[in-house]
Amino acid sequence: MKRILSCMQPTNNLHLGNYLGALKNWVLLQDQAADVLGEEAECLYGVVDLHAITVPQEPAELLKATREIAAAYIAGGVDPDKSTIFVQSAIPAHSELMWLLATMTQMGKLERMTQFKDKAGKNAERAGLGLFAYPVLMAADILVYKATHVPVGDDQKQHLELSREIASTFNTRFDTETLVQPEPYIMGAATRVMSLQDGSKKMSKSDPSEKSRINMTDDADTIVKKIKKAQTDPEPLPERVEGLEGRVGADNLVNIYAGLAGISKEDVLSEYGGQGWGQFKPKLAELAVTTLAPITERMAQLLEDQSEIDAVLAKGNAKANALAEVTLQEVRDIMGFWK
Ligand code: TYM
Repeated sequence: MKRILSCMQPTNNLHLGNYLGALKNWVLLQDQAADVLGEEAECLYGVVDLHAITVPQEPAELLKATREIAAAYIAGGVDPDKSTIFVQSAIPAHSELMWLLATMTQMGKLERMTQFKDKAGKNAERAGLGLFAYPVLMAADILVYKATHVPVGDDQKQHLELSREIASTFNTRFDTETLVQPEPYIMGAATRVMSLQDGSKKMSKSDPSEKSRINMTDDADTIVKKIKKAQTDPEPLPERVEGLEGRVGADNLVNIYAGLAGISKEDVLSEYGGQGWGQFKPKLAELAVTTLAPITERMAQLLEDQSEIDAVLAKGNAKANALAEVTLQEVRDIMGFWK
């Protein structure tokens, strides 16, 4: 049986990139693992609040965002009866395994992580140790469950590669096969959704411009306005995918349409190729609104009564804790720690 694990940080609202790049695939793997992977799978989806504090967080906001992200998972299709939804800070094994793995992770490898370089900016000397060590905690999140597949957006590929290397270093050093090298699952049309304002930049929670992203909680009006203002160029939509080359804004909107509709970019262009943006943008907005509205609505309902979310998380945390403790104990025994 395969084991699927993925997580999101409770920082701000989820946006369309999180949905198309990750959450949509989480639901696909939960419901159709046998078709997609050729085997049944057990799915675990975490809210990684310990990762969120690698940048300063307001405590009350952090707690609120943790519930909101859990609600977004459920509203987006993660079924708590089929999948385990947990909060990272409620599972101490993540942090302990992280320390053990940190002792066998080279700093040079962490220095090469593009997400660290982006987030630390020019002044890496002043960046916190937590930001630097972020990928080791992520490796612990994955390895502690012996996950076989990790559905993420394209931006997490490098972190996943490092997780595989860390697992391999541990196994080689202790001559064991205890830790499992996870496979990234980066699938679908929209594994890299770009900013609506600048098609060369990733759509991101940390972009200061609200217009750059579609939040999963945006109302219909806001979505329509943001898409109307999205970056394009004076040319109409091309007939073929090659015609999108060098046209980052255009490429992004076609990509988003493909991701939302669950079709390929070729299919989008065979329907809309030759049309102008004045015709295409309203269609895209309509598709985004009809996809997101039910999710937003369900999320609001779930957040009205906190007790339902809290019950889901309590159950998920207990399950995740039991699984994680087993791996941690194995690792502790292998490394020679006191029992
Ligand atoms: P986070 O919270 O930044 O993003 C959550 C998921 O959304 C994907 N994503 C995107 N996909 C397509 N286009 C975009 N513009 C876009 N922006 C974000 C991310 O790839 C991710 O899948 N490090 C992780 C959190 C994490 C994790 C883990 C993931 C911690 N531990 C263990 C998997 C397994 C992150 O930054 O997520």
